[in-house]
Amino acid sequence: MRYYTSVADLGDLQAAIREALEVKAHRFDYQHLGKNKTLLMIFFNSSLRTRLSTQKAAMNLGMNTIVLDVNQGAWKLETERGVIMDGDKPEHLLEAVPVMGCYCDIIGVRSFARFENKRDDYEEKILQQFIQHSGRPVFSMEVATGHPLQAFADIITIEEHKTVARPKVVMTWAPHPRCLPQAVPNSFAQFAVAAGYEVVITQPKGYELDERFTEGATIEYDQMKAFEGADFVYAKNWSAYRDPYYGQNICTDRSWTVSARQMAVTNDAHFMHCLPVRRNMIVTDDVIEGPRSLVIPEAANREISAETVIKRMLETECQY
Ligand code: CP
Repeated sequence: MRYYTSVADLGDLQAAIREALEVKAHRFDYQHLGKNKTLLMIFFNSSLRTRLSTQKAAMNLGMNTIVLDVNQGAWKLETERGVIMDGDKPEHLLEAVPVMGCYCDIIGVRSFARFENKRDDYEEKILQQFIQHSGRPVFSMEVATGHPLQAFADIITIEEHKTVARPKVVMTWAPHPRCLPQAVPNSFAQFAVAAGYEVVITQPKGYELDERFTEGATIEYDQMKAFEGADFVYAKNWSAYRDPYYGQNICTDRSWTVSARQMAVTNDAHFMHCLPVRRNMIVTDDVIEGPRSLVIPEAANREISAETVIKRMLETECQY
């Protein structure tokens, strides 16, 4: 695998899940793959889980790691070609990217949507520059349109906890004080459908996601109705995707906060969230702290999803 930006890059998802569970059981058995190899992790945005879990995954594989926070201590990077660089950005990504490629074997990139231009966000201009100019295998550590390491970890977690072959998985919008990207819900919807689950997305009107990511899921605007019989509830905030409100919060209705009221109509559903989570905005304390909450196992499986992806890259692209 040379690039990892969506579920399609995993090929057979069931085979990838089996491989991930094997990695989880034997996470230190592949250290020979990463000997004298270096992972470079580039963050244009903050992180706790992705930073720690991906670094741990690389260490499990015997790799060295370098972490660069672009906005803290590195030269500010210009990303637009053709710009007269007389402002506060002394280096262009078009030089910086191939230079970064000189110092590593694999690159992970985190670069969120900027909400300045929808087309730029959805074309993944920064990630694409790494893919085109680094000369290295590249994987997404959450970019504008997707967070495939998170979604892979979420699916591994569901597989570990499901009690029926085809669980009902409900992804619900929930309120948040800031405008967040659509990356996590896009990827989760795409992975959950690919995994063969019954997928229902519930959201206030105006929060419809890009249909390229939600194809195969049912949309239900009545949150209580959506929750009926759910085996898993995946809560997340996202900002509007559709024009003219792209990147904006158009609903502040706190009745969408996941609480015991909605969970009562589920099939004793597990609660999931990618974290970080705004308590009592997205979910009430009692639900996230309750016995059906999977937020910590999901985070733990981030190490496994990252190790599986990096292992595949080492096996196919880095044995020179
Ligand atoms: N879920 C997730 O990606 O967390 P971080 O933003 O802390 O990496």
